[in-house]
Amino acid sequence: MLSAEENARLTQVGPGTPIGELLRRYWHPIAAVGQLDEKPVMPVKLLGEELVLYRDRSGTLGLIDRYCPHRRANMVLGIPEEEGLRCPYHGWRFNETGKCVEQPAEPRPFGDRVKMTSYPVREACGAVWAYLGPAPVPELPMWDLMTWENADHEIGFIHIPCNWLQSMENCADTMHFPILHGNFHDYVLERLGRPDLKKRLWRPGDPEEDRMIGINEHDYEVNDRGILIRYTQANKTKDDPDWRIGRQVAFPTVERAVNDLEIRVPIDDTHMMYFCVRAHWLPPGEKSKQDKTKIPYFEVPYALDSNNNIDWSVLDGNGMQDNVIWGSMGPIVDRSKEMLGDSDRSILLYRRLLKEQAELVAEGKDPMNVFRDPEQANCIYLAAPEEEDYWEFQQTQQISRNRSFNKYSPIARKRVVELFGEDALKGPIY
Ligand code: FES
Ligand SMILES: [Fe+2]
Repeated sequence: MLSAEENARLTQVGPGTPIGELLRRYWHPIAAVGQLDEKPVMPVKLLGEELVLYRDRSGTLGLIDRYCPHRRANMVLGIPEEEGLRCPYHGWRFNETGKCVEQPAEPRPFGDRVKMTSYPVREACGAVWAYLGPAPVPELPMWDLMTWENADHEIGFIHIPCNWLQSMENCADTMHFPILHGNFHDYVLERLGRPDLKKRLWRPGDPEEDRMIGINEHDYEVNDRGILIRYTQANKTKDDPDWRIGRQVAFPTVERAVNDLEIRVPIDDTHMMYFCVRAHWLPPGEKSKQDKTKIPYFEVPYALDSNNNIDWSVLDGNGMQDNVIWGSMGPIVDRSKEMLGDSDRSILLYRRLLKEQAELVAEGKDPMNVFRDPEQANCIYLAAPEEEDYWEFQQTQQISRNRSFNKYSPIARKRVVELFGEDALKGPIY
């Protein structure tokens, strides 16, 4: 459906490319804050740029070029100092602005003429966020669930060997729900020898199935945040009160799904990170006692190796099923070979939005969801089910066998034990 040139234009993220320039107008999460406790210096790649994230001994974070400007030593081996990061080779020291503040071997130091690439970083809701774009630096958007006081937060992430766009196109694609998370889910359970845990299979035209999404009962609209997706259950219509907001895509890389903020991080043209900020609701009226500077994190395994061997044991949850599909499509989907139908109109909607917003950037304007007003950026509402329902939802569905990353989430597992006892972990938690 797209020419090879258009496909390249929509997927490339490096500096100077249209989409690379668009994506540089936004903050992206690059790590969980907790990772720096174990590794104060970490390699980071974002939008094709090789960088190093570090925390110096006074607690300041820096995001600088991976390679020292002297003779290109890898700064991943750098030594965190009271101020900045010292190159392990000849000891040049850099602060978080990329300024060279020390050259111990130079009789005539010329640090004031050395400028290493550096980018602003911020900590928020357990994540480190980076901005690689031009000045002025926009506000870091605090999407609503990042600010909630009646929830325990955590971070979950997975690295996937594919371009970010095939992942982003998935979130407006409601028609994969009943198949990938229904039929395929049941097939995974069969492969794992647990057919007793199967969901009931969805079948096209089955009027009785009330858990899955109907083939005609979904709708998409572009709003001021991105794309709003509504749907209802398969045996209901749009007139039914159950017709509800399912998801809000916050352009360009964020998706709000019930209690998750699911963020696609473009690492380079052929790699991405799927980064979830999760909010586990507490009973109504209760406040979280969690130390928000120490939000826990976990990493999710990827089920497909480079020889196409499948680890079925990973694939029994929605999140992991989505992730493996994106990666299974190859490093960059050849969209000149795809065959889209009527059910794919949301994909076209997202691509159109991407092109329009890239054009705005090319004209020197701010694209959608770039925030300049700190007050507005403090808490940005994203459409989602009503808050009163969350606690109930969590009791009934989130702690069930098909919610996203629960299998790997320490908080979800703890909740299961609190609510249902130790034995529940032997049962259906995925
Ligand atoms: S290579 Fe970094 S100081 Fe020499
Ligand atoms: Fe999915």
